[in-house]
Amino acid sequence: MSDSDSHLSRVWFKVTDLQVASGTGCRVTTVDGEEYLDFAAGIAVNSTGHAHPAVVEAIARQAGRFVHAQANVFTHDLLEPLAARLAEITPAGIDTFFFANSGAEITEAAVKLAKQATGRSHTIVFDGSFHGRTHLAMAMTTSKASTRAGYAPLPSGVFVAPFPDPLVADRDAEVSRALRGLDHLLATQTAPAETAAMILEPVLGEGGYVPAPAEFVEGVVERCRTHGILFVADEVQSGFGRTGEMFAVDHLGVEPDIICMAKGIASGFPFAALGTRRELDDRWPTGSHGGTYGGNPIGCAAALATIDVLTAPGFLENVRARGEQLTDALRELQGEHGELRQVRGPGLMVATSFTDPVRATSVVRHCLHDGHLILMTAGPSGQVVRWMPPLVVTAAEIDEAFEAFATALRATG
Ligand SMILES: Cc1ncc(COP(=O)(O)O)c(C=O)c1O
Repeated sequence: MSDSDSHLSRVWFKVTDLQVASGTGCRVTTVDGEEYLDFAAGIAVNSTGHAHPAVVEAIARQAGRFVHAQANVFTHDLLEPLAARLAEITPAGIDTFFFANSGAEITEAAVKLAKQATGRSHTIVFDGSFHGRTHLAMAMTTSKASTRAGYAPLPSGVFVAPFPDPLVADRDAEVSRALRGLDHLLATQTAPAETAAMILEPVLGEGGYVPAPAEFVEGVVERCRTHGILFVADEVQSGFGRTGEMFAVDHLGVEPDIICMAKGIASGFPFAALGTRRELDDRWPTGSHGGTYGGNPIGCAAALATIDVLTAPGFLENVRARGEQLTDALRELQGEHGELRQVRGPGLMVATSFTDPVRATSVVRHCLHDGHLILMTAGPSGQVVRWMPPLVVTAAEIDEAFEAFATALRATG
């Protein structure tokens, strides 16, 4: 169909013009019968790969029972089991769950809960974060100017603190600089008594796959505890095994007051969850938040099946091993290619940061057209090529993707 015949909005930017016909595991087949290795995974969503049999079966079974059971009207028999399962896998202290449909909705819900629970009105976010595309989530997002451009006025009460720059060699000095910036913000713009929450991505996602240094996160949590500010971990992109632990905060040993989950939770079925402590949830007045579709039974079924796959023995070990295989190979490639400035993990949340964003884009294009490998960029200028394959990726598929990338680097140099 020609572009002018289309009835679809053009607001979506396109990474590829592929028309997908089917998918299995890490591979998709287009309507032209071409096969591609999908290392975008629906932007870190297809955690169990395309059409995982256990997830497909759970969705089909539930669709045959009932598709929608609105949470204000009904309770259904997958809500409590899913909440109980999430209580087992989320960080210590998290025992109570609210469900919605997308990451933006759940980060907004976290801010709404924090305001009610503390009686305070302000939120601190960190430079380079992405929290979504609704108005409040946009106000909390600083990963790229184009996400917010043209949408002012945005909601007030959001303050941006520094996030450590991964390219600064003196890591301790950089962490100190960022924490001093946070202290300055608390002293000059949003007093602790006005600040309900600090919301942090433990690994920046859209901001360029940048892990927050452990000492930085400790400093943030310490300030939250000192001032009675809630610490919110936005694990929408980094959660559900993506980093080689179930959640990125599990690497850091910190306990969030609220955790935001979406993307990988249900293998691609739109589903999101907020986790908190019962004592905080008790301060969220009944009826003060909700939504038509939250806790959708098919989403619950998909999430339960996904969690079973992710918690199977050896699953996270494979994520860590495949992540190491990939980062080791990419680091070796750095020796030949100075334009490959930094390679970062953890797990299968891997960044290859280029000195020049134009180069990053041409490598991604070459991978797509010549290597049949789907990759995406990230970062404020698109300087990072990010690797986010389905977590079921095999060693052979990592090798195949790496070869396509190495070929693209040589061809575009
Ligand atoms: C960390 C983080 N939070 C929130 C969101 C928003 O999620 P959604 O696109 O489902 O609204 C995203 C999406 O990329 C994300 O990466």
